[in-house]
Amino acid sequence: MGEPPKEKPVTEPNRRSFHKFGSILLGSIIGAVLTIPGIGFILSPILRKTDAEDGESTGDGFQALAKLSDLQEGIPKVFPVLGKVKDAWVQYPEEPVGSVWLVRKGEAVDAFSAECPHLGCAVSLGPDGNSFFCPCHTSAFTLEGKPNNPVPPRAMDSLEVVLKQTPASDETEIRVKFQRFRTAIPEKSPLA
Ligand code: FES
Repeated sequence: MGEPPKEKPVTEPNRRSFHKFGSILLGSIIGAVLTIPGIGFILSPILRKTDAEDGESTGDGFQALAKLSDLQEGIPKVFPVLGKVKDAWVQYPEEPVGSVWLVRKGEAVDAFSAECPHLGCAVSLGPDGNSFFCPCHTSAFTLEGKPNNPVPPRAMDSLEVVLKQTPASDETEIRVKFQRFRTAIPEKSPLA
């Protein structure tokens, strides 16, 4: 008669299950650590924001772009808008985040976003110097920002302007509240 078969220790399956569970848990933690920054990277263009749009540059959303004396009556001039760009992970140094056309009318100033309301190209001065023009798909506008042909879905996007006398000099500062708007729609709808 041979010896009866030995019984396996009852603890073996438990130990294996424990190791398996531990491996899965560790794998999940490593996966999460690697994936979360990856998601942030993928979404960063969406999450990127500018201080100019947030209104942090002057605290009230307005940014000083020029002095009244920089403008000649009825002659449009374009000015860059600077802002601190930041996303979920990084705060970048100040850089241009947009451009604004300013048109002086006596002691008042009109401001328009230079972003074309059609599909977002940069609006330039027309060849006659007396209108605006977008070279991408030929949108044309008057100096008041009104459409001059049927290409653009709406007028150029006007921006709020405040003229402020600087205490240190006789200069009048032109402060503009820079905003971006949705393109390709007839309504002027700010981007969140
Ligand atoms: S983006 Fe300006 S005309 Fe199309």
